[in-house]
Formats: sequence, structure tokens, C-alpha cells
Amino acid sequence: MNYADLLIATHGKVAVIRLNRPKALNALNDNMMDELGDALYKFDADSSIGCIILTGSEKAFAAGADIAAMVDYDYGDTYGGNYIGRNWEHILNVRKPVIGVVQGFCLGGGCELAMMCDFLIAADTAKFGQPEIKVGVTPGAGGTQRLPRTIGKAKAMDMLLTARMIDAAEAERTGLVSRVVAADKVMEEALAAATTIASMSVTVAMAIKDSVNRAFETTLTEGVRYERRYFHAAFGTPAQKEGMQAFLAKRPANFDGL
Ligand code: CAA
Repeated sequence: MNYADLLIATHGKVAVIRLNRPKALNALNDNMMDELGDALYKFDADSSIGCIILTGSEKAFAAGADIAAMVDYDYGDTYGGNYIGRNWEHILNVRKPVIGVVQGFCLGGGCELAMMCDFLIAADTAKFGQPEIKVGVTPGAGGTQRLPRTIGKAKAMDMLLTARMIDAAEAERTGLVSRVVAADKVMEEALAAATTIASMSVTVAMAIKDSVNRAFETTLTEGVRYERRYFHAAFGTPAQKEGMQAFLAKRPANFDGL
């Protein structure tokens, strides 16, 4: 896979997609978002891949949507052209787990894209913010919706209205990221987590991801019912036989291809 604005690598069953517009701190433009959708869909369909990492550079996961590209947009360009809606949310259709790894700036659309990952591992250098108000717009890729659901209304309003950046420690305290790791160890840690996930049954991992995401779209009773269906269905998969038989035989389970 060759892209102008992404770097791609694989490590065993883990795919790594790196946002790569270093001169603009990975500002997210149309081409990059088209390429990101393409790469995500290819890895989602690739049976040799069990987990995807989405990351940026040491300086920036992404400093937001590309301001230079949108400065002259009018309503026809945005509403008419379905700006953001057209190609930013492909990541939400990916069924395999996606881990976001954040170093440096993770701002505006960058923070919104990060929040579309399944969970985030941050370097101690990470800085998160929703500074759209400073450039005269609201967030447009879910910042006002996912941020309060993730860190609560008070913190979200504070970040969204003052444009204050929070550091990695505050991001971990508020539940925006799952772990904070020294910058020189963050990819190692993320690859280890992704390799662990990819060593499990892909089918079961996808079901868990789908079930967790359902929690944000439905009532508790319906969500638990939804989960129960997956649990029952798991007994029709070879993964359940292998996992439980391996446990009882006191041997490691082998979920290869399951
Ligand atoms: N769009 C386009 N270019 C950007 C960019 C962005 N979002 N963020 C940074 N860049 C560019 C800068 O213009 C600069 O380019 P030049 O060298 O050609 O001048 C280069 O990246 C380096 O940036 P700085 O010189 O500004 O670096 P800094 O270390 O002094 O500051 C920063 C870093 C605090 C992240 C600062 O660049 C900044 O505030 N960036 C904008 C952040 C922002 O407002 N993001 C929200 C965008 S709107 C949005 O995302 C809408 C949405 O919800 C979808």
C-alpha cells in the first residue's frame, strides 16, 4: 500500500497506520482522510491482520483539520460537499480493534479522530485539546458529543469553551486515554497490546467491540440483551471450544484463524 499522506507497516498480525504530513503537524486534509479510509478498509478485510494501530509522529498525532485547506470554504463547500461527513468516519465502520497511539499535539479534528479509535495509549508528551473556538468554528467530527461522553460535561465544556489543552496525566485521570507511557516506550507498549489482542479470536474481539459501542447507542437493558446474544452465539464458534478446552487441559489456547 503506497500513500502520499500515510506510512504503513505490519508487525505480525498488527497493522500500523501512521499519519504523515510532518510539515503541517499532520493536519488532516481530504486526501489523507480518503487514504485513511482506504487503508483501514483494506486491513479490516485482511484475514492476516487482527488489530490496527493508528498513530502520528513524535510531534503530533494530528493538529486538527487542515486550516489552510478550509479557510476559503463557503457553505456550499462544507454542507454541499459533505465536508467531514464524506470521509472522516470510515474508521467507525472498521470491525477489528483500532488502538490510537498519541504523541505530541492531538487537537481539534485530531482529537476527534483519536476518540473514534477503540482506546488510546498516550505518550507522556501528548497534549489534547479542542481549540476550534479559537479559529471561529465549532468542532465538526464529534468533539461536542464524544468528549462529554468520555470525560464528562464539566471537563468537556472547559476544554471546548476555553480551548485549554490538557496533558497526558490529565487525559488519563479523566478517562480519555487508557494508559500513559514514556514517549520512547509508547510504540513498544502499543505493539504489545495490539499483539495480545491479535492473538485472540478476531471474531470474538469484533463482537466485544461491537457490543461495547452498542452501550453508547442504547439503553442498559437493550445493551445487556445485545451482549447476551453475542455470548450465546460464541458457543457456535470454534474459538469457544479452543479457549475452554485449552484452559481445562492447562495449555495455551491457539486462536489462529479463529
Ligand atoms: N492546519 C493547517 N496547518 C497547521 C495546522 C492545522 N490545523 N496546525 C499546524 N499547522 C502548520 C502550521 O501552519 C505550521 O506551518 P508553517 O511551518 O508552514 O507555518 C506548521 O504546521 C507548524 O505549526 P506551528 O508553527 O504553529 O507550530 P507550533 O509548535 O508553534 O504550534 C500548535 C503548534 C499549537 C499545534 C499550532 O500549530 C496550532 O495551534 N495549530 C492549530 C490547531 C487548531 O486550531 N486545530 C483545530 C483546527 S479546526 C478543526 O479541527 C475542525 C474540526 O473539528 C474538524
